[in-house]
Amino acid sequence: MTSDTPKIPVPGRRLCVAPMMDWTDRHCRHFHRHIAPGALLFTEMVTADAVIHGDRDRLLAQAPQDVGAGVCVALQLGGSDPARLAEATRLAADYGYAEINLNVGCPSDRVQSGRFGACLMAEPTLVADCMAAMMAATDLPVTVKCRIGIDDMDPEAGLDDFIDAVAGAGVRVVYLHARKAWLSGLSPKENRDIPPLDYDRAARLAERRRDLDIILNGGLDSVDDALRERSRFAGVMLGRAAYRTPMILAELLAAMDGGSVPARVEVAHRMADYADSQVAEGVPLHAVTRHMLGLYHGQRGARLWRRHLGEEARARRDGGTLIREVAAACEAMATGLAA
Ligand SMILES: Cc1cc2nc3c(=O)[nH]c(=O)nc-3n(C[C@H](O)[C@H](O)[C@H](O)COP(=O)(O)O)c2cc1C
Repeated sequence: MTSDTPKIPVPGRRLCVAPMMDWTDRHCRHFHRHIAPGALLFTEMVTADAVIHGDRDRLLAQAPQDVGAGVCVALQLGGSDPARLAEATRLAADYGYAEINLNVGCPSDRVQSGRFGACLMAEPTLVADCMAAMMAATDLPVTVKCRIGIDDMDPEAGLDDFIDAVAGAGVRVVYLHARKAWLSGLSPKENRDIPPLDYDRAARLAERRRDLDIILNGGLDSVDDALRERSRFAGVMLGRAAYRTPMILAELLAAMDGGSVPARVEVAHRMADYADSQVAEGVPLHAVTRHMLGLYHGQRGARLWRRHLGEEARARRDGGTLIREVAAACEAMATGLAA
């Protein structure tokens, strides 16, 4: 990539797929791109230090098919040192991202010991400094993803103060996971389920700061829920539901924009072509297929799809052929049902 890489316009954040470590890698994003081409996709979180000192191409490179093809991807950074975040932002500019996002929502111990993630909600001035430094390093949009609070922070004043501080630094877009993070005693997984969701608190923020785009995240797992909440926010962000039941993205986009939902078999064939090219470059087939297990969720072939793709991909060396074979078997099952 060169610094001449054209900037990708963000088409609107009405539908976003959340950053998820170990899940939303470039293969997963390529899959989601075929299901919901108009969605804003997020990377996994990458720390600023990893961008600066690590294997940048491995960490930041996107599927070549996805760069400059109208696909919008936000890079999520983790860190709390303004100079290092600015440096990472500058270095990332050459990789074709549409937006740079700062993680202020992750509650893991590892992240807390590095003094970033959700614990930064207690340090709005520092976060504002980080955001200002990142903005000075790029002309891409710089955004933040946070919770409605941490621990015993007052979710009214505490969240307002935090958002006012980052907005004061120039941030215009906030992805809001509408539950607190409890920083001691809960695992990251528990922190995604146990602290109660409070969409109304998030909506009060959206109402109070109508100058900002507030994107609602957390627990949205049906088309109806997402569409209902969409009316109170600039957009919705889906995490686990997008991963486990990916066709929800296509259904949501169709409901929002009036387009059609792609056929599962079409998505499977596009992914098989992609797998052909990836396997030829030495990527194990499993690295691609592991993200696709939910494609037939709720359909007659769902179990067959999951089992064959899940169990056989590691042993196959023939590109995307397995995907084509299993998709054909699922389609035959669906036809059998219709007959
Ligand atoms: C496996 C996994 C990894 C995650 N990794 C990140 C991450 O790297 N950065 C982040 O901001 N949030 C991360 N999250 C949180 C999600 O982005 C999202 O905020 C959360 O799952 C709530 O949304 P949901 O209920 O739609 O899944 C992760 C969630 C999961 C399930």
